[in-house]
Amino acid sequence: MTVEATYQQMKAKLSRVVPDMELRYKAELAYEINQLKKEKNAVILGHNYMEPALFHSIPDFTGDSLELARKAATTDKDIIVFCGVRFMAETAKILNPEKTVLLPAQKAGCSLAASITAEDVRRLKARFPGVPVVSYVNTYADVKAESDLCCTSGNAKAVVESLDSETVIFLPDEYLARNVAKETGKHIIFPSATAGPDDTELDYQMIGWHGRCEVHEKFTVQDITNVRQQFPDVVILAHPECPPEVVATSDFSASTSAMIKFVQETNKPHYLLLTECAMGDNIAAANPDKEMLRLCSVRCPHMNEITLEDTLNALKLNRYVIDVPEDIRMRAAKAVERMIQIG
Ligand code: 13P
Ligand code: SF4
Repeated sequence: MTVEATYQQMKAKLSRVVPDMELRYKAELAYEINQLKKEKNAVILGHNYMEPALFHSIPDFTGDSLELARKAATTDKDIIVFCGVRFMAETAKILNPEKTVLLPAQKAGCSLAASITAEDVRRLKARFPGVPVVSYVNTYADVKAESDLCCTSGNAKAVVESLDSETVIFLPDEYLARNVAKETGKHIIFPSATAGPDDTELDYQMIGWHGRCEVHEKFTVQDITNVRQQFPDVVILAHPECPPEVVATSDFSASTSAMIKFVQETNKPHYLLLTECAMGDNIAAANPDKEMLRLCSVRCPHMNEITLEDTLNALKLNRYVIDVPEDIRMRAAKAVERMIQIG
């Protein structure tokens, strides 16, 4: 494959979404990355939120958190370059202690992962002894290590229902927890980590935490009303990290990959995704027949840190290496592997 062939391949997909001069520049970067990837025996995993030129040029696999964790668990390459955020790269390391895992940006955090510490989980466990802990995969390794099981937006309901327990601690996303509670018919409470349960908290089946995704919490029912006024036939897809009233007002709610599949497999006049805007571009690029509306004032600054330039430097300079202390990794692996087995 030459630079020109890379450019032509990208152009075939992206000419409606990315201006040509940018495509030419990015094709050069993509070409160099793909060469280095082969030389270094690396695999590139790309989350569905990556910007279109990156998403459609360098990943060997694209997908949602669950699909990429599965790919990370089975790769035979020496290096995993994770074009996503830190907690995703950490999950890949948890599953592959002997491999080098690289995150192209030094930070690429996540407001949900930052919302809870391992100490918070230990306090909750002390307060609700014996209650299993399910942690969203959007957490750091030390929080996973304190958990019995992980889940993603793609399997949260199945994970909660797989437990042989009527009650579950579900962390840290308040809105995902509320949405799962609704789906499973469970009564949820949000206690403080330290105080004892009071009378109003005696009847509960899910115990949540007040973490929020800084992107999805911004979508409102008013956004949906406004868009439906202008496009009455629009189909609205909301990620389950959105507030419950937004999910309830939308037409479909599921993981990022399930949203992509929904658009691919249906034929509606307009679609609006209530999630990181780049995903709308990626779907539009792959499905020229679909009319994607975008609300792009709401972006994930962490996912947006991952660029083609940084990915090239990651491979050139072997950076930024993700490390997880072995005692934490071993405990976190149990929670992640249990999740992968459930599906
Ligand atoms: P998915 O697992 O649905 O891809 O979601 C990950 C995420 O961070 C959503 O904001
Ligand atoms: Fe985290 Fe939200 Fe960004 Fe996803 S979109 S990585 S949940 S801050």
